[in-house]
Amino acid sequence: MRHEQGSSSVTIESPWWRDAVIYQVYPRSFADSDGDGTGDLPGIRARLPHLAELGVDAVWLSPFYASPQADAGYDVADYRAVDPVFGTLDDAAALIGDAHELGLRVITDLVPNHCSDRHAWFLEALEAEPGSAARARFHFRDGRGPGGDLPPNDWESVFGGPAWTRTTGPDGRPGQWYLHLFAPEQPDFDWDCEDVREEFRAVLRFWLDLGVDGFRVDVAHGLVKAPGLPDVGVAARDQVKLLGVRPTPYFDQDGVHAVYREWRKILEEYGPDRIAVAEAWAPSQQRVARYVRPDELHQAFNFSYLTTPWDADALRAAVDDSLAATGEVGAPATWVLSNHDVVRHRTRLGGGLDRARAATLLMLALPGSAYLYQGEELGLPEVVDLPDGVRQDPAFGRSGSAGAGSGQEGLRDGCRVPLPWSGTTASYGFGPGAASWLPQPAEWAKLSVAAQDGDPGSTLELYRAALRLRRGLPQLGEGALEWVDGAPEGVLMARRTAAGAVGPAVLVAANTGGAAALLDVPDGAELLLSGGGEPVRGSDGGTLLPADCCAWWAV
Ligand code: NOJ
Repeated sequence: MRHEQGSSSVTIESPWWRDAVIYQVYPRSFADSDGDGTGDLPGIRARLPHLAELGVDAVWLSPFYASPQADAGYDVADYRAVDPVFGTLDDAAALIGDAHELGLRVITDLVPNHCSDRHAWFLEALEAEPGSAARARFHFRDGRGPGGDLPPNDWESVFGGPAWTRTTGPDGRPGQWYLHLFAPEQPDFDWDCEDVREEFRAVLRFWLDLGVDGFRVDVAHGLVKAPGLPDVGVAARDQVKLLGVRPTPYFDQDGVHAVYREWRKILEEYGPDRIAVAEAWAPSQQRVARYVRPDELHQAFNFSYLTTPWDADALRAAVDDSLAATGEVGAPATWVLSNHDVVRHRTRLGGGLDRARAATLLMLALPGSAYLYQGEELGLPEVVDLPDGVRQDPAFGRSGSAGAGSGQEGLRDGCRVPLPWSGTTASYGFGPGAASWLPQPAEWAKLSVAAQDGDPGSTLELYRAALRLRRGLPQLGEGALEWVDGAPEGVLMARRTAAGAVGPAVLVAANTGGAAALLDVPDGAELLLSGGGEPVRGSDGGTLLPADCCAWWAV
């Protein structure tokens, strides 16, 4: 990122992505240009100025490829085509062009672990004989037990239920089984097959040629499976709990890294600014860091930070762990609080809007790159009361998460409700009419972009101010973080400095405790910004930081 300080200043250049703020757009829920209730690429294009004004560096677009939408586009039928519901390839090219003109980079989602069951290769495989080259692109196996009636192994799908579905032969008799770590409509590719590797090298080039600045790699930890597809040996219902805890034969296999070494070379052919970020779940931060070794991908999402509760000690440990693990391989840390798969952090952290704002300011003050999810800049809560009948997440129902008292864990529609942009009636400017593919709560009228624009107390203006400051202060980029010891219990306090930075250090304090805390903030410190409340300077020189407040000072 380029940081400029005042007029007399020094400009610090480092690769743009090392401390970039990257905003996730979930296309079906961002902005709808044609009134069919589903967001689309022209809708996003028209709203790009909002993102430029917000001050993010890049946009990550969740999948908009041709897809039957069995998993909201994470089931791709054609990796080189745009789904008509989202627009055309020309719309994609125009969007990339407009974003670049506004100074925004564009990262697209790449889904290499599985495709759609309507992908031409899978249709061909279904028609082909067991043992054929067409079937070798996927994991087809005979079943176990008499008549092959049992799945080939004990693997459980991430969405619940067996990870295998049996095919029916042309004669109507049951045939082989195929593997799908997610929904049955998402057959896993076999990455031992050279056709698959070659196809994805070509897909990377296709989008790089179209001008994208990088990729978010879906299920980056899943491509390579253990030879022989051995049993996990753990009861099906407990397997999902192993995700990110201990190795399984289907995740985080060493063989996956060879794929990323190849991809890194392709990205570099296009210059140093094209990047890839891994969605990698692995048993430890050290294992995750293997995905961002210098010759592999550039960043990996930090799910261990996302899953850390609002607790000073736990947060400090997660930050230390992340910095140590990424530091060992020379990669920047990344930070994220919300995305399209988890309960929005305003709701998840359990402390309402103040806590959500404080958590955001803390995250934006950490060294490295941060990911924002659409709507968090409006302080949107999770929609927790969607009727079962409108839910579209394939995990709903399969995972047994439906039903009263199950909370929102594992229910992913509540964070995907279309954004409110303006107005007092649905769809609140999401589209030209009232239609939206999930119903929006009436209270969202007050949270729309138009309602918050220019209101100095709004969440939107807080995000804008934070990103403006961050851009101007290299101290808040990738530089050093030094904890300030002696902070009251429940308070995280750190100093941020950067080599070559002009001016003072930045002091950051976040109060995760249940009550206001008295801090020792140096005399002359200048309050830059606070979220979730305001620190108050007492006459005795102490500074009172309210609960669920985070503040930044220049010191
Ligand atoms: C991770 C994506 O974020 C999620 O939405 C999707 O369901 C799975 N990968 C499967 O592609």
